[in-house]
Amino acid sequence: MPESIRQILYISKSTRAMPDAELHDIASKARAANEREGITGALLFVENSFVQVIEGKDTAIDGLLAALRADKRHRDITILMDRKVRSRDFQNWSMGIIKISEEKKAEVVREINSAGRKGLALDSESEFFPDSQTFLMMKHVYDTNHSLQQAMVQRPG
Ligand SMILES: Cc1cc2nc3c(=O)[nH]c(=O)nc-3n(C[C@H](O)[C@H](O)[C@H](O)COP(=O)(O)O)c2cc1C
Repeated sequence: MPESIRQILYISKSTRAMPDAELHDIASKARAANEREGITGALLFVENSFVQVIEGKDTAIDGLLAALRADKRHRDITILMDRKVRSRDFQNWSMGIIKISEEKKAEVVREINSAGRKGLALDSESEFFPDSQTFLMMKHVYDTNHSLQQAMVQRPG
């Protein structure tokens, strides 16, 4: 039977400046922990906002969400998508950093702003955003780069 995978897409605001070195530090620590926990995903940083996809077993995801919510480097975590999937979308990335063009950044910022407004207007903690353009864009970057990134993250095996 295929394992049941929970996939989350969230946005948050950074609480401090986030030079590349800091972002890479977050990602490299995340990779080591994610490999242990069987978590995969991708991280994007655009104009003071993080956009992250995390996918894994329910218990592992719950644990990571608790750590993320307690992490003072960001705030206002808004869950755009929380769903069960049959297979992972970022299978070979223990946590890939997504780089995008300035043009694409503008699109992401538009979506973040509209999602943030909707998120604030809701009582519920989680908002379902099934056709996030940002998610599709992150997936596209993965599909075109994952063998390269896989080498960079040095997954065993
Ligand atoms: C934007 C962002 C993304 C993060 N992504 C991950 C991740 O994918 N996996 C992970 O283990 N930690 C990630 N972290 C770090 C966690 O928030 C936390 O610091 C880490 O899990 C250690 O938590 P602990 O001290 O409770 O063990 C991320 C932090 C930030 C700010």
